[in-house]
Amino acid sequence: MEAFTTTLLLLACSPPYTQVGDRCLFIDNVLSGNWTELTAVCQDLGGELVDLHDANLLAYIVEHLYETGRSDVSYWVGATDQAVEGQWNWLTGAPVHMNTPLWGDLKDGVQQPTGGAKENCAVLLKEDYYFMHDAPCSNPHSLICQQTPDSLLQDPALSTTRGRPSVECPHPYEVIGGRCLFVNVPSSGTWEEQRRFCELLHGGHMIKLDDANVLGALFDYLHAHDLTSSYVYIGGSDSKKEGDWRWLDGTPVRMGTPFWGAQGSSPQEPQGGTSQNCSSLINTDHFFLHDLECDSLVGVICEH
Ligand SMILES: *[C@@H]1O[C@H](CO)[C@@H](O)[C@H](O)[C@H]1NC(C)=O
Ligand SMILES: *[C@@H]1O[C@H](CO)[C@@H](O)[C@H](O)[C@H]1NC(C)=O
Repeated sequence: MEAFTTTLLLLACSPPYTQVGDRCLFIDNVLSGNWTELTAVCQDLGGELVDLHDANLLAYIVEHLYETGRSDVSYWVGATDQAVEGQWNWLTGAPVHMNTPLWGDLKDGVQQPTGGAKENCAVLLKEDYYFMHDAPCSNPHSLICQQTPDSLLQDPALSTTRGRPSVECPHPYEVIGGRCLFVNVPSSGTWEEQRRFCELLHGGHMIKLDDANVLGALFDYLHAHDLTSSYVYIGGSDSKKEGDWRWLDGTPVRMGTPFWGAQGSSPQEPQGGTSQNCSSLINTDHFFLHDLECDSLVGVICEH
């Protein structure tokens, strides 16, 4: 499978930090301790527990964990609701984006966090493909520190609007997550019909959903506008070559967390092999990506 490629600045990380995505991180799968202890370890190393304010960093971290053989433990990250129950903040003070794309689920299919006052610290859970879960702060887990001051702490708002300083969308497109998008639900059609529909709509195309923060913005939009009754197609497919997922412009679709769903205790998507060649966001799995039969009649998200 072709690696996901994007242009990243090369950072001058000081040891023990190395560059992962656009951050200097220290990932240690041997060190283990409770959340408070490991917060202190990161501070001793001139850093802090990592913040995933830009959800795209999670994709780089998860890829790195599997590639370097560190996918044997769970990792604390710098999010907690210890100050006010239910109000999750990063150690940087920024609020944590709830639901999709960061938070996973367990067998019951209920999206995390679910532990209430008993679970106030956030962990990337090995058992759930490193989606984020709340856990008791006293549990022992490993750590991911980021070097501070982080010269390249990117505002995700900037990354999602890259190259589009002021976005103006032709009707009926709206600005969602910095993109011009039109969510067409409950109107439904096959993948091919919906692909043509988007083209007719001011020469648009089915969305290239390559930014995890845009996935989060879409989750919020679908819920705020009560558009949660249906699946929606997006522009990824593996019809040309089994398992080789491509956007309509031919670029590879990023696989894994935090894009593709892992519903309840099921393995991570895509799972449908040659019978399911079209990508969709599904309402029964928190609008994470799933593969679907291309002749399913569902909605669509167009992009201009
Ligand atoms: C974390 O560990 C330290 C040192 O062992 C202990 O003093 C502290 O109470 C623990 N904190 C939690 C939340 O379990
Ligand atoms: C899905 O795509 C594969 C090639 O990747 C193709 O062999 C198969 O026939 C397609 N399945 C359907 C149902 O069209």
